[in-house]
Amino acid sequence: MVEISTSILSMKEADISKTIMNLEIAKTDYFHIDVMDGKFVTKNTYAKMLNYSSYIKRISNLPLDVHLMVEDVQSAVDDFLSLEPNIITFHFESFNSEDKEKNKKDILDMIKYIKDNNCKVGLAIKPNTNLEDIYEFLPYIHMCLIMTVEPGEGGQELITNTLKKIEDLKNYISKNNIDIDIEADGGINLATVSDVKKAGANILVSGTAILVAKDYKVIIDELKG
Ligand code: DX5
Ligand code: ZN
Repeated sequence: MVEISTSILSMKEADISKTIMNLEIAKTDYFHIDVMDGKFVTKNTYAKMLNYSSYIKRISNLPLDVHLMVEDVQSAVDDFLSLEPNIITFHFESFNSEDKEKNKKDILDMIKYIKDNNCKVGLAIKPNTNLEDIYEFLPYIHMCLIMTVEPGEGGQELITNTLKKIEDLKNYISKNNIDIDIEADGGINLATVSDVKKAGANILVSGTAILVAKDYKVIIDELKG
């Protein structure tokens, strides 16, 4: 059975308590927190997502699935660790110095830092990043987030060639006995969900499709299928 992580990126601030309560009643498995710094991607949701997350912590016990789309991973991790999320996922592409060995060391150090702070850790890759680039990190993380849209916006169309990447990742972790979650993120709705599940993702992020629905439980149940 897949799990649903509802992205609250497009949630209206005025409706926060109603939306969070209704999502809880509708049994979303996680709240997906899209943290954007205005540099790694053009949108800046940093302060808003910190606010939303601390509010959710006060009124709900459901886990936070934090997705960092930032250049300065260290300070974002420190800011969000204080909210005790279930998992913090950062982007492989956030470590982009010319020195590939330095990037590898920094990524491994960040993975260890997040785990040493009693938080699960995920690694995310953009649609154009090759899966092979992150194989070496998979044994050390809890989840791999495959972006099925370009990071930075909700409401985009799923990029279909990313489904092959999910399939390849599923085959790779099964062949190599690596027990991690595969999260697909972006453009997931009733039209695309079965292809994403067939490809092998077991945690599905959905924002627009859920938040526009009249009844969150109906859409979440249908996505879970
Ligand atoms: C995009 C975010 C996604 C997005 C999902 O940068 O990482 O989580 O908000 O929203 P929908 O489901 O609307 O594509
Ligand atoms: Zn996301």
